[in-house]
Amino acid sequence: VDARLQAISAAIRVVPHFPKPGIMFNDITTLLLRPTVFKDAVEFFVDRYRDMGIAAVAGIEARGFIFGTSVALAIGAKFIPLQKPKKLPGEFLSEAYELEYGKDCLEMHVGAVQPRERVLIFDDLIATGGTLCAAMKLIEKAGGEVVEFACLIGSPKFKGRYRLNGKPVYVLVECRR
Ligand code: PRP
Ligand code: MG
Repeated sequence: VDARLQAISAAIRVVPHFPKPGIMFNDITTLLLRPTVFKDAVEFFVDRYRDMGIAAVAGIEARGFIFGTSVALAIGAKFIPLQKPKKLPGEFLSEAYELEYGKDCLEMHVGAVQPRERVLIFDDLIATGGTLCAAMKLIEKAGGEVVEFACLIGSPKFKGRYRLNGKPVYVLVECRR
């Protein structure tokens, strides 16, 4: 198990000063170029979530879509894209949030989540937790129940590790710096 996690961590490229000076960007695109490592990463999540009664996986644009869809298909859950503004054609709910470098907003189609449905939220990385928190508010606005948050990478910037508003955050590997 540890060798596989080490390979996952090593496959993530660290890009200094992107997208802004001082930020060490953890780039998962290099991991996606290595099919066996990519598959191992998906399988860690699938093993964890296959028997948790997850009805829906909500993935955060854009990198949360990659792992979120892979896991949703494998566990037989539906997939819900949580998108950046002005991408959704139908009626939507929205939730604004603050970032380390700016402001952003997530949107979700009305009707994507049913009341009391059990939802897993996916992203590539948790830093302050602001993005995942906004995603949770969106799901809860629609009456869904957030079971857990899943991220490939956890950052030490997230002090309350690894829970967010009382809910567990599952991360595979630590942020590389
Ligand atoms: C990055 C990352 C997470 C978020 C984590 O996205 O993909 O979504 O930051 O940070 P937080 O825990 O402090 O909210 P970013 O907003 O930089 O944009 P992108 O995903 O569109 O590249
Ligand atoms: Mg993001």
